[in-house]
Amino acid sequence: ARKDGSWVGFGPGKVILLGEHAVVYGYPALAGALSLGVTARGEWAARPKLVVPASLNRTARAALERAFARAARSSHAPPLRLTLESTLPVAVGLGSSAAVAVACAKVLLQAAGDRAQGKPLLRVAREMEAEFHGTPSGVDHCCSALGTLVRFQRRTGAGEGRARAVPSRKPVKVLVAVAGLRTPTRTTVAALRERQARWPERYARVFKEIGKLADEGARAVEEGDLEGLGDAMNLNHGLLSALGLSSSALDECVYSLRREGALGAKLTGAGGDGGAVIGLFREPEPAVARLRRQGWTCFSSQLGGPLAL
Ligand code: PMV
Repeated sequence: ARKDGSWVGFGPGKVILLGEHAVVYGYPALAGALSLGVTARGEWAARPKLVVPASLNRTARAALERAFARAARSSHAPPLRLTLESTLPVAVGLGSSAAVAVACAKVLLQAAGDRAQGKPLLRVAREMEAEFHGTPSGVDHCCSALGTLVRFQRRTGAGEGRARAVPSRKPVKVLVAVAGLRTPTRTTVAALRERQARWPERYARVFKEIGKLADEGARAVEEGDLEGLGDAMNLNHGLLSALGLSSSALDECVYSLRREGALGAKLTGAGGDGGAVIGLFREPEPAVARLRRQGWTCFSSQLGGPLAL
């Protein structure tokens, strides 16, 4: 939408409810868009330019500049100067790079007079994500572009994965807690790839089971069966832990959320030595308030289902 003579685009962050890592190997995942995210604003300028946030280190700035140049080229956008604003914690597995990609892609496409949704949006956002992450499964930018709960499955080969919105009968609300910084996704994915290459059948069995949980979870969402979804999340955390992707900090966080009454709790995103944890609650706010008083960094978000009036 055009506001005050400038173009505005919002890219939500995401949480993976079920299926991270296995999704890289072609199994389905269930992910939901957060209410927090990144807003991009564009104004006409002499040359295309992204004003890179000062808080980023040199490597991250360079990656962002390269990614933006790639997106500007692929969207045939006229020269714009873009600024970014984010409400999302970075580098903890909440999809901040995909949120940046979707926000920028929306602004560039609008300015180019193209559709800032559907296939064009996925294509331009994917260009940027590829610059940040090399070969991501695509779950992050697809979820952010659709802005809702999605079942995602990577296609073999280089093409776009398949994403479908998962309708929910009941509100699906999560508490998101940040359990500290972590190693980059790229490193965690590469280390798992080595173990998987050494014992392919063993790892394929676990990935397959995770994919089944993702599909069962998507069905539970459609049926309004939050207990079934929570149980699938608990099992998924155990399997991620079996794959060597959890840590004592993440496990402690998961146990705390279960003690707080979560219907299910697990690490979300790449995991490793830190990152984010989610708990599924019918009503997360009381737990958010209690945990914040104890010094936790946490917030709640509704991922799908009817909104309370
Ligand atoms: O970067 P994160 O923490 O959101 O992790 C992305 C999810 C993975 O499945 C681990 C990687 C991928 O490309 O899907």
